[in-house]
Amino acid sequence: MTVVGPFGLSVRDHALETDVQAGLAAVEEGLIEATKSGVPFITEAAQHLVRAGGKRFRPLLVMLAAQFGDPHAPGVVPSAVVVELTHLATLYHDDVMDEADVRRGVPSANARWDNSVAVLTGDFLFARASHILADLGPEAVRVQAEAFERLVTGQILETAGPREGDDPIAHYLDVIAGKTGSLIAVAGRFGAMMSGADENVVDVLTQYGERIGTAFQLADDVLDIASDSHESGKTPGTDLREGIETLPVLRLRARAADGGSPEDLALCALLDGDLSDDARHAEALAGLRAHPALEEARRDTIRCADEARNVLAPLPDCAAKEALSYLCDSVVHRAG
Ligand code: IPE
Ligand code: IPE
Ligand code: MG
Ligand code: MG
Repeated sequence: MTVVGPFGLSVRDHALETDVQAGLAAVEEGLIEATKSGVPFITEAAQHLVRAGGKRFRPLLVMLAAQFGDPHAPGVVPSAVVVELTHLATLYHDDVMDEADVRRGVPSANARWDNSVAVLTGDFLFARASHILADLGPEAVRVQAEAFERLVTGQILETAGPREGDDPIAHYLDVIAGKTGSLIAVAGRFGAMMSGADENVVDVLTQYGERIGTAFQLADDVLDIASDSHESGKTPGTDLREGIETLPVLRLRARAADGGSPEDLALCALLDGDLSDDARHAEALAGLRAHPALEEARRDTIRCADEARNVLAPLPDCAAKEALSYLCDSVVHRAG
């Protein structure tokens, strides 16, 4: 087994490893090229997070999906650059929304400069992604536009919260499929589509992306509670501080509503209080880390990743299919 790319996927097949490695290296070059501006400050702000690293999970998925057609087809690398640039732009904007200080182990753009710089740099990245996308044809533009609408809708619905009478867990699952599943589905779809894979293979890899993308966000939400910033490159407990209720909290609340223990009710009361207070925030985080609801959310994450794996069944057996299956485990068991 050899580890491929910053996400650290283990690959057994040598030809696949070489191919994916070369593809990811070309994506890095493409990202640096696409983030150059005539205005030096824009280049600096746009490359701030590109150079800070990141897992490059979406480009990895494009490369693996492209194995089902011609992985060297001309649209494959640019489509991966488009997906990563779009992702990157949403990170600049998301850190403004979440008032996050740290991203990819470095100060977020809003912390390093200010909200205006972060928002405008995000817009600049979208513009560059659109420019590359234009050369990939109208179908690619449509796919990206639809996914982006879903992503933004997910972010807005998260901010708005569930409406009176909505099931909060169903609302949450809709939000994460929209804000994260949509773009990771595009990664699967673009890889297959640009490589010229069969229509049914394109469909399978789109569905797979949507499912593993949802598992990826479930894992991120567990990590926001369970990990330390050394592993994630982000500040733990950001969701709690921002009042965003993710699955571990929603599972806790469901228990509390269903005749929960005095400990469940006490933790809910703590969560209902002012979590901008550092001591209360630390207490709530510690309470959730030790609570069985966190374990329940982990099991839900594993179930979702298993669903992604099951989607792969119709694909022909090959090294790329094995890697995609293995990716389902890596997403769930990642530390950052
Ligand atoms: C962070 O995405 C936002 C989510 C959708 C959870 P990643 O976890 O892929 O972030 P990077 O690209 O590795 O920094
Ligand atoms: C962000 O979700 C998803 C998008 C950027 C679309 P989160 O708010 O959970 O992502 P992190 O934890 O800040 O990376
Ligand atoms: Mg965030
Ligand atoms: Mg998060």
